[in-house]
Amino acid sequence: MKTKWASISIVGMGYVGICTAATFASRGIRTIGIDIDQARVEQIRRGKAPLHEPQLDSMLKNVVRKKLLDATSDISVAVHTDVTFLTVGTPSQPDGSIDLSYIKNATEDLGNLLREKRGYHLVVVKSTVVPGTTNGVVKRFLEQSSRKTIGSELGLCANPEFLKEGTAISDALHPDKIVIGSDDKKSASELAKLYRRFYGAQLPPVILTSPEAAELVKYASNAFLATKVSFINTIANIAEQIPGVDVGTIAEAIGLDPRIGGLFLKAGPGYGGSCLRKDLQALINYSQNKNYDPILFRATEEANEQQANRVVDMAEKLLGSLSSKRVAVLGLAFKKDTDDIREAASIRVINQLKNRGARVVAYDPMAIPNTRRHLSEQIDYADNVQSALKGADCAIIMTEWDQFRQLAAKDFQAYMNNTNIVDARRILDPKHYAHLNYVTIGMGPSIA
Ligand code: UDX
Repeated sequence: MKTKWASISIVGMGYVGICTAATFASRGIRTIGIDIDQARVEQIRRGKAPLHEPQLDSMLKNVVRKKLLDATSDISVAVHTDVTFLTVGTPSQPDGSIDLSYIKNATEDLGNLLREKRGYHLVVVKSTVVPGTTNGVVKRFLEQSSRKTIGSELGLCANPEFLKEGTAISDALHPDKIVIGSDDKKSASELAKLYRRFYGAQLPPVILTSPEAAELVKYASNAFLATKVSFINTIANIAEQIPGVDVGTIAEAIGLDPRIGGLFLKAGPGYGGSCLRKDLQALINYSQNKNYDPILFRATEEANEQQANRVVDMAEKLLGSLSSKRVAVLGLAFKKDTDDIREAASIRVINQLKNRGARVVAYDPMAIPNTRRHLSEQIDYADNVQSALKGADCAIIMTEWDQFRQLAAKDFQAYMNNTNIVDARRILDPKHYAHLNYVTIGMGPSIA
């Protein structure tokens, strides 16, 4: 290992980039993070996480102090490393396809720098890109700008990332698999070597395949997860019609079948987050451009959209009309333990509530600043649960925060104008709410 320079560089200090950088460094692999955002770079250099993720802050502090991780906005340092990971964003475009401009810019900049480099350099595409991107535009840009071809001096792999927000660090330290896509043996074996160094005896299964297959693994994975959620939400909506049936029991029972599996079967208001919807839309757009209409995934998305409307329908049914009613939305984040509201079901629900004339007040322990940036003053924001509930005609639980789980029926009774409760996350115990106007997703009417 070179002592002066980092072994690996990572371009794009977003969610995936920074968690990957911190975990590589934590295993003693000298790492440099690169980002055009100077403020973010400075923050990382001070050992402060620029985003909320459990364990990230302490890990960053530690690796920065040990000089295993550094950050810069100058991409030219990448040339002194052995491997460069591209973790830049691939945002959605209006037609669902992904915007490759960050990938193209980073690849071109890197290629220009590699032109003068003597010795081998491996480029790894970790950003989520549709099949054919690594072997197409990335390879073309890299070879053209470096004036080298993939082979003895230049390597190229696709290596998707599967980490989840909220557990990103432990996911990165204990992945269930590593997928390496490459058309040339040397690239694949160099990357596998790096991962062997990272994981040692704990190396997970390594799937060696083509770049296109590696890219599709990522989309297939997220399409499956999204479909699993829309599936259980569909069963939940059917269960609601059947006296004495609770979708939780159905999920528990079917989950015991190893072919189905018990995870990702929680019925709720629909999936959100930065990946599932974006990736599904990109996959749909990609397939349609190949003259195949993936109707299953369109239905997954459609069911997800409608699930938010169903939550609002439940509130409307309890109240008769939503016009001028005060509705407290408890939870804005797309899941607990994050301040992220990207594609959150809460936003779809709030928009519907507004369309139907409700006055919305929202509370979330972390996500209010992000929501304020997104919705500005279209709704009211409360400082705590109690003030959100104060004078409310209805409360809708949209995120499964632990503090909402701990609420008791009397907390609602003490503050609300009318105790109408829609538990869209199924976190309260219906037994304790039988005396209130309580409804939850996936629960049929009780048998008298
Ligand atoms: C997801 C993938 O899980 C991850 O592998 C990928 O790399 C990025 O996208 P993330 O967006 O962090 O990760 O969230 P995840 O925990 O997968 O949850 C996604 C959404 O589905 C959330 O809104 C969550 O509340 C919802 N969900 C999840 C359910 O409604 N029910 C479930 O049973 C599971």
